[in-house]
Amino acid sequence: MSRYQRSTELFQRAQKSLAGGVSSNVRALAQPPLYFRSGSGAHVVDADENVYLDYTLSQGPLFLGHSPPSVLDAVERALRNGQLYGAQHELEIELAESFRRIVPCAELARFCNSGSEAVHAAIRVARAHTGRDKILKFEGHYHGWYDETLVSSAPSLAQAGPREAPTPVLASGGQLASAIDNVIVLPWNDADLMRATLQRHGHELAAVIMEPVMCNNSCIPPQPLYLETVRELCAQHGIVLIFDEVITGFRLALGGAQSYFGVTPDLATFGKAMANGFPIACLAGRRELLALIACLEVNHSGTYNSNVMVTAAAHATICKLERLDYQRIHKLGEKLINGLRKLAAKYGLPVLIQGFGPVFHLAFTVRDSFLEYRDSLESDSLRNSRFVRAMLDRGIRLLSRGLWYLSAAHTEADIQLTLETVEDIWSEQSWSYPTKKPSTLDLSERLDESISRKV
Ligand SMILES: Cc1ncc(COP(=O)(O)O)c(C=O)c1O
Repeated sequence: MSRYQRSTELFQRAQKSLAGGVSSNVRALAQPPLYFRSGSGAHVVDADENVYLDYTLSQGPLFLGHSPPSVLDAVERALRNGQLYGAQHELEIELAESFRRIVPCAELARFCNSGSEAVHAAIRVARAHTGRDKILKFEGHYHGWYDETLVSSAPSLAQAGPREAPTPVLASGGQLASAIDNVIVLPWNDADLMRATLQRHGHELAAVIMEPVMCNNSCIPPQPLYLETVRELCAQHGIVLIFDEVITGFRLALGGAQSYFGVTPDLATFGKAMANGFPIACLAGRRELLALIACLEVNHSGTYNSNVMVTAAAHATICKLERLDYQRIHKLGEKLINGLRKLAAKYGLPVLIQGFGPVFHLAFTVRDSFLEYRDSLESDSLRNSRFVRAMLDRGIRLLSRGLWYLSAAHTEADIQLTLETVEDIWSEQSWSYPTKKPSTLDLSERLDESISRKV
């Protein structure tokens, strides 16, 4: 009987009533699609009672691990008194105050339900503030699934056009063709190109939006002084700089990438780790900008915004994070990264790891760095899929796209076990590398993947 028998049966049943058998397209990429019963700390248990050490953390939110008692208790206590008032409650003030205390750009905050919504609100505020329509985003950066931002988040090389002036690429059937009319796309990490582009288009741009670390594609860090240069250029041209910190917020550092790198955007969006898995997100930023929402000039609404459950979850999570030893997680992650690099060297595998202790990316590639999205297409995604599956079969759950998330619940023993498991796989003869360059192995597969992912 298959190790995934029950999940397979559930998936077949689900497909009859649930579109694609899943509730988010990105989940359909996991092979096999698993159904889960429980999660605790760094571990999850699937429907077949297989236990996994989890490095997916549900696409990142579970920075305190699965089911942290302090968060669950806070939610339970708060919910006994009510769920939603269609009005205010005190906890949302405390949550907003903690943003002001922790996040450098956060003079004011607004809460909503998802990262996609927060990004939508940020762009609307930027447009209202500047009276301009266009936004500039970067190839490979993901900002949610709404029409205007789901552009060039993972285009194939064939679609992407010239590097210096990429073609904005839609990523979903049903997206308005006009969604790209107001979007300029650039490669990330190229300050000179950014400068030249803003000289021509700066006066038309309401916002520049970026992931301050390109977590959604290969976890590429900003080049030295890149963020500072973009910050300065946006100020010169009167453009609102938006950091999308849905992944980096509360994960890279308590105050997000903006505090880690010391560069303060005008607006920033948060989600994921801010409530350890509960669906709340935040738009935070300069008072002058959020004032447009405050005075009702910009519409930001939502029936479920700051409901009791998610507000209590975020409040309890952030209270815990304020006392968390971030250094420990960085060090633990670095230990894992170094261990993986040593094993790759020992078995002659061309492996590139980029990122930080709390979130990093492993690619099979002969390149010694990826600086921008197009570099990352030169990786052997078939081999990555094989690796992810081999790990799953041995009880370690990874994301199919090569991103690894660590939580406060991971331990030294977990890292040790992970490295032993990886060695068990990579030491097999079948892992020795072919002479053929990996970059040529998989472009068609990468194309298929890029069409379906992240939607
Ligand atoms: C950087 C970034 N921005 C925005 C989003 C969208 O957030 P959500 O899935 O909560 O809508 C994501 C989701 O993965 C993300 O990684």
